[in-house]
Amino acid sequence: MHQLSTRQLSSKNDWEEDIVRKILAAFKAPKTLDQHMCSILGYAGSSQAAPLLVEGLRRMEYRGYDSAGVATSFMDRILVKKGVGRVFEVNNAVNLDSLPGDVGIGHTRWATHGKVNEANAHPHLSSSNGIAIVHNGIIDNYLELKRELSLSGYTFRSETDSEVIANLLQRNYDTTRDFKKSMITTLSQLKGKYAFIAISKDGGLAAARFQEPLMIGVGKHGYFASSDILGFVRNTDEVVYLDNGQFAMLSSKAISISDFEGNPTPHQITKISKEFADADKSDYVHYTLKEIYEQPITILRAGGMTTRELDWLAASIVRSKNVYITGSGTSFNAALIGKYLFSKYARIKIESLISSETQFSPVYFDSNSILIALSQSGESADVLETANIAKDSGAEVISITNVMTSSLAHMSSISVSLNCGPEIGVAATKSFTSQLAILYKLTNKLCGVLDAPDFNQISNNISKLLLNYSYIQQIASELKNVSDIYVLGNGIHQYVAMEASLKLKELSYIHAESFPGGELKHGPLALIDSNAYVVVINPGDSTYASMSTATHEVKARGAKVIGISNIPNEIYDYWMPLPTVDEAFYPLIEIVPLQLLAYYSAIERNANPDYPRNLAKSVTVK
Ligand code: F6R
Repeated sequence: MHQLSTRQLSSKNDWEEDIVRKILAAFKAPKTLDQHMCSILGYAGSSQAAPLLVEGLRRMEYRGYDSAGVATSFMDRILVKKGVGRVFEVNNAVNLDSLPGDVGIGHTRWATHGKVNEANAHPHLSSSNGIAIVHNGIIDNYLELKRELSLSGYTFRSETDSEVIANLLQRNYDTTRDFKKSMITTLSQLKGKYAFIAISKDGGLAAARFQEPLMIGVGKHGYFASSDILGFVRNTDEVVYLDNGQFAMLSSKAISISDFEGNPTPHQITKISKEFADADKSDYVHYTLKEIYEQPITILRAGGMTTRELDWLAASIVRSKNVYITGSGTSFNAALIGKYLFSKYARIKIESLISSETQFSPVYFDSNSILIALSQSGESADVLETANIAKDSGAEVISITNVMTSSLAHMSSISVSLNCGPEIGVAATKSFTSQLAILYKLTNKLCGVLDAPDFNQISNNISKLLLNYSYIQQIASELKNVSDIYVLGNGIHQYVAMEASLKLKELSYIHAESFPGGELKHGPLALIDSNAYVVVINPGDSTYASMSTATHEVKARGAKVIGISNIPNEIYDYWMPLPTVDEAFYPLIEIVPLQLLAYYSAIERNANPDYPRNLAKSVTVK
């Protein structure tokens, strides 16, 4: 499609009609606003770009995966191929990797609101086909820009907000004939949160970052721009992390990084930890299974703090008048266990915040407050928002994350590493137990009354549990046609029940709900009949008597009971045995067989446990 210019229109009437049509089209807000948790990748070098892009996109697919596409710059043209589906499906259908050219961009999309179709898939071309872009984030002023660009004759082919970047850049390029200058003007006009990579038909590549992740891989045969290290980890272990408000101009031989005004900024090349290169499934069928099986090791590696750092962290918490802990999803469940440990053992008054709710909650952060933010990715928009609210109110933010280069780690006064290696399976598994391991270490430092956790012993216990998985497969096969399952826990176990039911929902698509055992009689008991399956987390500790009562209550109504306990009991239709440990440490252990139950239930029901439908690993939108 070519760019429509008002000068090309013949009569005044045509002109007016066209303007009216464009204004109407621009004002008609699309039914769907395209928001993204996508992966973007670019390459400029001396090798063919497309195969490198397809390989990188495949590795980043855990971030989002409903459509994929690649564009390359070749002989003064931009070539684009894209489609709906996983990277390998789109590649099988249209041979993304066959595109010629040594400069290119690629994208995997995860739509939260926008339709999943080819037109909305990235890359997006400018209307004159001179520029193509891939984008992750949201352009807040896209309607305004779209209207303005439409009036100047630029046309649009998708419903996305992203497409305005291509046309805006094209308009600025048409004026300046200089790619860098057109980037500077474009960046001053965009509002929102974004990372995007653009190529021009004459082989230029530019990449900009504003509140969405973006980094540059420095390879022997060219440069990569990527939203994730996994996009280029097979090709280079050298990386430059772009800061917010920076953009890079890349060619096969050179890189220049500037702030949004175009002033050059110095950059530092960092070596990536070798572990990232290990992000493959090894001999496991799925990443999720591999990650569950890594837990005996990852809990030992969690934290990796020196005694001084641990002292410093504990001192910061102790001197704060108001202590908050936050996270989303699984990280929130870990935060609840942290809250329990801090209050019960260190006698610290602490409030937990669901990150997505902070903006609606009466939370009073001040300079006497500390926020402990938990996030595997360090990029969850909800967690970042909570951390920003806290920081803006003068509170100290400390974070516990798996990605030390993440936005969360950057904005924290101290960040503790989960150090559990890349977690690729969309459902959090090993990051949960690593979060717990750090919270135990911290609790122990804070109070000294919780017996020093013997993580070697716990690690051995988890290894033994993992060796004995065939009975869990059998239970999962029983659950094949079950539509509802309830998970009960008392005391600290209620949070494990929450995490177990989240895993069952995500991986197996079984409707799962968790309750504290004592709450059954206040309502949920009405749901229990002979079709119900109930998991009771019932180790022999202070909660045992109460949970045994709840078990009798559901059994009396005909429910099938899956008991997870160190004490066998005939009341259980299925028994998941546990070792005996101190009450405080059960969560680290009891979640493991429940993760396996969710995993094998997914297998039984033909769901792909690595890529649960409708979910993405890094939830970078609100
Ligand atoms: C559940 C899961 C999600 C994440 C949540 C927060 O299995 O993976 O609930 O826990 O989206 O993600 P992070 O920890 O990256 O902030």
